[in-house]
Amino acid sequence: MKNIVMGIIFVYLLTFSAQAQEKGPFFPSRATTETGWLKKSRGKVLNSDSFSDPETCKKCHEDQYNQWAGSMHSNAWIDPLFQAAYQMASKDTDGVTDKFCAGCHSPIGVVSGEIPPADGSKLSEIGKKGIQCGFCHTLSGTTGIGNGAYVSSPGGGWVGGPFSDAVENSAHENEFSELFTKSELCGACHSVTNPLNNMPIERTYEEWRDSPYNTGDPKTTVHCQHCHMSQRPGMPGTGAVPIVLNPGKAATMGEVPTRKHIFTHYFVGGNAAVPGLLGSDTHSKLAVERLQNSARVEIEAPEKVSPGELAVVKVTVFNSGAGHKLPTGFPEGRQIWLDVTATDASGDTIYSSGALDKGNNVDPEAKIYRVEFVDKDGKHTLKLWFATTIVNDNRILPKGHDETRYFLQIPKDVKGPITFQAKLRYQSAAQDVANFLLGPNAPKIPAIDMEDEKVTINVGS
Ligand code: HEC
Ligand code: HEC
Ligand code: HEC
Ligand code: HEC
Ligand code: HEC
Repeated sequence: MKNIVMGIIFVYLLTFSAQAQEKGPFFPSRATTETGWLKKSRGKVLNSDSFSDPETCKKCHEDQYNQWAGSMHSNAWIDPLFQAAYQMASKDTDGVTDKFCAGCHSPIGVVSGEIPPADGSKLSEIGKKGIQCGFCHTLSGTTGIGNGAYVSSPGGGWVGGPFSDAVENSAHENEFSELFTKSELCGACHSVTNPLNNMPIERTYEEWRDSPYNTGDPKTTVHCQHCHMSQRPGMPGTGAVPIVLNPGKAATMGEVPTRKHIFTHYFVGGNAAVPGLLGSDTHSKLAVERLQNSARVEIEAPEKVSPGELAVVKVTVFNSGAGHKLPTGFPEGRQIWLDVTATDASGDTIYSSGALDKGNNVDPEAKIYRVEFVDKDGKHTLKLWFATTIVNDNRILPKGHDETRYFLQIPKDVKGPITFQAKLRYQSAAQDVANFLLGPNAPKIPAIDMEDEKVTINVGS
């Protein structure tokens, strides 16, 4: 009952408070096609057959295909965490969120009119393949940042891409498009706002826009593509390591030149859990490599302490690798935390903070970097569609840092020396979030060690 009432309020507000966002053909998603309401593109009536299946691109672009397959872009619709939240939102709001969420998670489903219904019963096979070759490479522009503000223009036998001198081929016409070389392409989706009350849900694009990586000078600006589309095994492509170019050929067929850099298509973030669940070991491993090149941890401790003393140890976490906050995106689910322990020479733990309990949940007293939302009644909520206010956001800014002080009561009978260890750990979803979405059969979300530092503290009198 309560959900129905909330749903009606949501529908009402969405209908009558359109000030939040201009209404387009797929409202509340901001997606458009070239001719908007008519759902036509390049003169043709648009449906899901207007998009080429990734398998057809694979014939000539094997590397791009193999890298993309198994990525979170390819999983965006089938992702079990997304599906659980999506079905819940659809029920709670009587379907109002159907086009909104899918505008980013199954864009072909939305622009071709196969969504709603949210259960996917009308969705074509191609619509289930998430964010794919034929969708991205037929984007003709954007109408702004966020909530799916892209212009989809398939069906003309063309592809847009970064080359102004692409070699002619039998499959498609090539069109140079500057958009592909810039963060604004990604910004169409990597910024999520509740269309009802304007509450920011995800701000990855804006976090990057306001960061030192966006210098304003085209020669030195580091775009999303530079980090995320240079990664491959052994080359994590983060701000903490040099970005290594990937020379090669863009197509396996045709007389094509060797180019200085072929952009990789793994599209890896921090999510090691879902690619692992859905069977892509490669993407899971790449996520771990990325996370292990994202941050730096420094410990400042006294060289020597006395038994019975209250010692202070300072731990600083630097966001050295991410071009946005650490962590970013789905920030009410993702978490990064400090797991610290102090152990004396006889192996006794004299201090601990941030351990995982038997249920795989982090010690709530720990330093946890994340975002927390409340609903209109001030109650903590994981339902982002009901969230109205952010009550906590302590994530670390790009190239920024954060300090935590730990107070250690040194036992009188301590056996020196003491080892102080600080691990920085990551979960793409807190276990309670996964349990909330997936119920009793939720898998155990892996905790990934991003950093692991130790110092020795001597004991004197
Ligand atoms: C999320 C959007 C997106 C998806 C999905 C995507 N691409 Fe790309 N692709 C890009 C961008 C962006 C670039 C250019 C990056 C730059 O120049 O900064 C690119 C570049 C390319 C290029 C030029 C050569 C290169 O790799 O640098 C080819 C070919 C290509 N993509 C093919 C594909 C194929 C095939 C698929 C599906 C298997 C695919 N793309 C999926 C965004 C995408
Ligand atoms: C018959 C082979 C073939 C097929 C099939 C094919 N391509 Fe291409 N594609 C090429 C060749 C050849 C180039 C030129 C590469 C170069 O100049 O280095 C190219 C270039 C591209 C570029 C770069 C264009 C630019 O101007 O920057 C993109 C993007 C691209 N293809 C995407 C796709 C997508 C998406 C599909 C599937 C819908 C696809 N291709 C199917 C052969 C093919
Ligand atoms: C059509 C909307 C759309 C566009 C355009 C788009 N993305 Fe995404 N991207 C998504 C969605 C949705 C997900 C999350 C899927 C999920 O987790 O279920 C995602 C996931 C990702 C991830 C993996 C996140 C993780 O936690 O591991 C990375 C990295 C990423 N995108 C980078 C990019 C970059 C770089 C670009 C631009 C070249 C881009 N995306 C363009 C919608 C988009
Ligand atoms: C300087 C390199 C760099 C740039 C630039 C950059 N990223 Fe990232 N990105 C990272 C690193 C490192 C991580 C892994 C740490 C993390 O999860 O935040 C990451 C993680 C992500 C994730 C997964 C979020 C999570 O917390 O699991 C997404 C999505 C993403 N980036 C998208 C983008 C988009 C979109 C842009 C451009 C607006 C961008 N990134 C720019 C380095 C970069
Ligand atoms: C404007 C585009 C956009 C819209 C609209 C959107 N999402 Fe997402 N969603 C994303 C992106 C991008 C990510 C990946 C974030 C990251 O990793 O940083 C994501 C991630 C998620 C995740 C985490 C998945 C995982 O495997 O960890 C869930 C759950 C999710 N979205 C649910 C929803 C629901 C439910 C809605 C509608 C109420 C929605 N999203 C609307 C872009 C969008």
